Amino acid sequence: MAPPTNTTASSEDLATDILAALDKSQPLLSSDAFPSATFVDLKAALDRLASREMVKYDTIERQEALLEPEAEQIAANGSHEARVFEALRKAVEGLSVKELEEAIGDKNVVKIGQGKAFKEKWISKTKDGKFTAVADKINDTTQEQIKTVQQTKTHPDPKILADLKKRKLIRTQNIFSFKIHKGPKFALRIPEEATDLTADMIASGAWKTATFKPYNFKALGATQNGGALHPLNKVRQELRNIFFEMGFEEMPTDKFVESGFWNFDALFVPQQHPARDLQDTFYISDPKAADFPRADSPDDTKDYQAYWDNVKAVHQDGKYGSIGYRYPWSGDESLRLVLRTHTTAISANMLHKLAATKGPDGRPLPARYFSIDRVFRNETVDATHLAEFHQVEGVIADYGLTLGGLMEFMEIFFGKMGLHDLQFKPAYNPYTEPSMEIFAYHKGLGKLVEIGNSGMFRAEMLESMGLPKDMRVFGWGLSLERPTMIKYGISNIRELLGHKVDLEFVQGSPAVLLGQE
Ligand code: PHE
Repeated sequence: MAPPTNTTASSEDLATDILAALDKSQPLLSSDAFPSATFVDLKAALDRLASREMVKYDTIERQEALLEPEAEQIAANGSHEARVFEALRKAVEGLSVKELEEAIGDKNVVKIGQGKAFKEKWISKTKDGKFTAVADKINDTTQEQIKTVQQTKTHPDPKILADLKKRKLIRTQNIFSFKIHKGPKFALRIPEEATDLTADMIASGAWKTATFKPYNFKALGATQNGGALHPLNKVRQELRNIFFEMGFEEMPTDKFVESGFWNFDALFVPQQHPARDLQDTFYISDPKAADFPRADSPDDTKDYQAYWDNVKAVHQDGKYGSIGYRYPWSGDESLRLVLRTHTTAISANMLHKLAATKGPDGRPLPARYFSIDRVFRNETVDATHLAEFHQVEGVIADYGLTLGGLMEFMEIFFGKMGLHDLQFKPAYNPYTEPSMEIFAYHKGLGKLVEIGNSGMFRAEMLESMGLPKDMRVFGWGLSLERPTMIKYGISNIRELLGHKVDLEFVQGSPAVLLGQE
């Protein structure tokens, strides 16, 4: 029912009222019988009765015409043209525009009314420029039409209805009402309904006369609060599949705390590098320092002291053909504990171990590693930055790799994520040379977006580990959040990760297919 009105009757009362009204006459039109009940209340009451087969009903929709304020005025005082005519009829001498306006008291009525009255030939102009009435009697059809609409909420002639609407005198609205009939189980009161057949009912014979509530096969099931995978987990799983199908091995990333040695020094990041500032990195105050780098399994027989010395030498004095940074390298700085700022710390550890492997030719084996895990940066939190996020990282070690090979590999890898036509931009990382930022055209956003960072690891880093000179290593990294936000159309990272995440969003998020639109 529109316009909606408030009813005081509860749905219980309304249902009983409907039954009482139906008993007197049927079919019943709800808009006549219950003009003030809302559509929702009526439908609820009717559905209740219909489910018990006490009533049957159809929904009917019809159009209702309502008067605009101007038309209300016309219904009460006559049309503009009629009012102009009436004023002139009373003034035998005729009236000037000004006098007419004074007589009617509404400039607008005069303006529109005199034009129409002329057309109808009800009035004319005298020689001295005054208006005068010429007809004896007029028929105010506009007022009549409007009065019809006012009384019947419609007009038998659709053309007139359309014309009044075009003149903005009336507006129409759709009205829903119900046509109600008695059902096979019609009664004046809603019977008590049994929901279960009990032993007592059988013993007493009450089941014979009891009314049973019918099954409602259309009822929706209750929502189940089962667990749901977070969108980041879904995208992570898709990415893991891409890596696995390309022959990658997953790196063990199960530690958030690293020493500066693995997070920075092993990667040839100088100790004065801004990334090592307190503003960029979270340092751990307790315990004060990390253990000296050491093997974490008995089969790791590498000489960690030699590695440490190499790292020191390559930073401080230069080695392997590099002139180094030439600053006094501090072992204490290297043993400070940090929340890892990138998973490249793990890659360094893995590559160091790789240097000890021996293929058929006695040289380290080619390898493909990846990881997807959390990293931490001391950033100001905003819509696209959090102090923690997930890094997706890949590393390929092999002999004779070239930068062109890295670019081609990126095309294939990101192509599997549905990102094509990559663009590469020279960039800088302390641990790679050359380095490239990777961009892809984002159709939804209509622009190039940065999707990752990559490069070929530096000789200073690789040779310190004992990897042979002709073994080259590609590395690249991207955030897990970026593709997830793009895929799920999220603009604020805080909706994706952290305490503001809406559980309904997590539960309602569909599965992700990275390669598809
Ligand atoms: N560690 C880089 C980052 O934080 C990603 C990267 C990994 C770049 C490996 C090059 C090589 O963005």
